[in-house]
Amino acid sequence: MTQQSVAMSGHVLIFDSGVGGLTIANEVRALAPDLSVDYAADTAFFPYGDKSDDALGSRLPDIAEALVEQASPDVFVIACNTASTLALEHVRARLDIPVVGTVPAIKPAVGLSRSGTIGLLATPGTIRREYTARLIADFAADHKVIMHGSTDLVQLAERHAVGDPVAMQEFREAQRPLFDQAGADQIDTIVLACTHFPLIRGELAATVPHPVQFVDSGEAIARQTVRSLTGAASRRKDGGRVFVTGGDVQSSRLARICGRFGFDRLCRI
Ligand code: DGL
Repeated sequence: MTQQSVAMSGHVLIFDSGVGGLTIANEVRALAPDLSVDYAADTAFFPYGDKSDDALGSRLPDIAEALVEQASPDVFVIACNTASTLALEHVRARLDIPVVGTVPAIKPAVGLSRSGTIGLLATPGTIRREYTARLIADFAADHKVIMHGSTDLVQLAERHAVGDPVAMQEFREAQRPLFDQAGADQIDTIVLACTHFPLIRGELAATVPHPVQFVDSGEAIARQTVRSLTGAASRRKDGGRVFVTGGDVQSSRLARICGRFGFDRLCRI
């Protein structure tokens, strides 16, 4: 978080399947500390990464609409690569406020890589998306992009965030399929293309087989969120609510973590 903060008012609702969007919430609050920020997690349908495109694609516009109706934000941020790469346009079409999506930081990674080989860590859903293939074709056509889709890493991030002990070996094992692929010894830059992964950036860095740099889209999403608020007539002045969709164990676990990030008023939708 190296950006200078800006004075900006408005009400933002940040949405993910679970705790991953908290990494985006942190970036948004660092950039614009005066914003009123609420959080929402689709706890009843977590994790998104292993769901079928049909099931997730038909759910997302409905959830987004229900959340916006209840929270009345000025801008809705889909802080989830898995959801954005599938349904960003469908959610936009459903809502009458700006919608900011989160997609893999392929372009910045290309700018940073010296070796020309980039690793992409994401959920299985994000890895198989046409949207992701298009980003690679548009921005990394002359690079080698080696990918791994992992739901294990998402679960490790959730466990780590709640304070459960996670052995370093588990982080090493979960990354191994990326580095087992041909040419992976040339990877010098890894895109963290799931918002859960910055929560375990230190653990990932400590368990890669050779030094790499990690890049994510958090700062860019924060800037885009602030841009989309220009001229917004804020409808709320507070924030700190966390909306959950159900799933008792998942909701209460999430509520505990969110409390530590300042989202301490639990609301059910
Ligand atoms: N945090 C989400 C993302 O950025 C997905 C995690 C999940 O599988 O639910 O893709």
